[in-house]
Amino acid sequence: MSTLAGKHIVLGLSGGIAAFKSAELCRALVKEGVTVQVVMTEAAEHFMTAVTMQALSGRPVYTSQWDPREANNMAHINLSRESDAILVAPASADFMAKLLHGGADELLSLMCLARPIDKVPLIVAPAMNREMWNNPATQRNVAQLKADGIHVLDVGQGDQACGETGDGRMLEAEEILEDLEAFFTPKTLAGKSVLVTAGPTYEAIDPVRGITNLSSGKMGFAIARAARMAGAEVTLISGPVSLDTPRGVKRVNVRSAREMLQAVQANLPDQGVFVATAAVADWRPANSADQKIKKDGSGQTPELTFVENPDILATVTRSPAALKGDLFCVGFAAESHDLLAHATAKRLRKQVPLLVGNIGPATFGQDDNALLLVDALGARELPHASKQALAVELIADIARRVS
Ligand code: CTP
Repeated sequence: MSTLAGKHIVLGLSGGIAAFKSAELCRALVKEGVTVQVVMTEAAEHFMTAVTMQALSGRPVYTSQWDPREANNMAHINLSRESDAILVAPASADFMAKLLHGGADELLSLMCLARPIDKVPLIVAPAMNREMWNNPATQRNVAQLKADGIHVLDVGQGDQACGETGDGRMLEAEEILEDLEAFFTPKTLAGKSVLVTAGPTYEAIDPVRGITNLSSGKMGFAIARAARMAGAEVTLISGPVSLDTPRGVKRVNVRSAREMLQAVQANLPDQGVFVATAAVADWRPANSADQKIKKDGSGQTPELTFVENPDILATVTRSPAALKGDLFCVGFAAESHDLLAHATAKRLRKQVPLLVGNIGPATFGQDDNALLLVDALGARELPHASKQALAVELIADIARRVS
């Protein structure tokens, strides 16, 4: 379950063409289990109808401070008092300027001004033309809004509705959702750097063929995402997978085990946690042919011989930082049977304080999993759940161990 489930968010729309993304955002929030109360400025109603937002949020929309539906006629007080946060998306240049000066001539800005500052955070997702965004007035306003404790989200970059290209687009709905989830996640790994390996490796036989495995990388990506949400600086070394990089995570793509080792070593300095989720190929062909190996018509199959790949986790656990206790290492074990016995033995063999066991064939490519956390004291099961939920629990466990 996402950290957003059960939250009550006031979704404010000011005037901007990006308001069409707010419909998608509203739907996505509701899907996460959030109750959404939409408040729109008059300008927003030029871009999006209250009817659409009511249908998507399942609640009547507020557009006026004179709304007679409130018994005390104080929508600006009542709406903010009930909410876990106010999210203004899109936040136009004009709306941000108004917030800055404490303007309150319509319901949305009035409600933002009247919110209890310590209890109801205000998050804004700017949306405007690139010249408006880069204008010193807007940049000054953004800096001051941040100084006033308002959480200003980044802007996107790319083609704009006006035909120009640059910074200032509102983030996409799923990016705002991700940032909102991060906003509500306790920063248990603040100030820490976390290095994660994920996915399979690919060991070339020739330029068109190779050996790999069924790892999808989903568990490792979920761990990188959870660590980032918990406030860590995260570097993700990924084998060949088709997954989007979690927001705010630095990703390094590699193919073979040797490339993965090289990337890990290059990124190791100053890391506080290393999580090895990658399903690294144990062996690679001893000789990778420069050209495609052709059939010669004799029916003879090529002779393949293998050499062992370097053990990345073992290399890291023997690094000076790990030996000094400055780097906390977590190994994974993908087993097909006898999970507890294999995971316990592997933890000792790999000399890691924490080893996470899972049943490989049952989990490769799936969106959910079950984990067995094995340390010196014994084993703890994290029962069947989504990989993201398990990643959040695992990161919470790691955070307790390194804090
Ligand atoms: N690992 C690694 N480098 C390797 C092999 C494994 O870093 N060359 C890491 C994996 O990322 C994982 C842990 O070691 O964290 C265990 O991987 P696993 O494949 O389960 O174990 P193996 O060491 O390959 O042992 P076996 O194949 O005998 O089960």
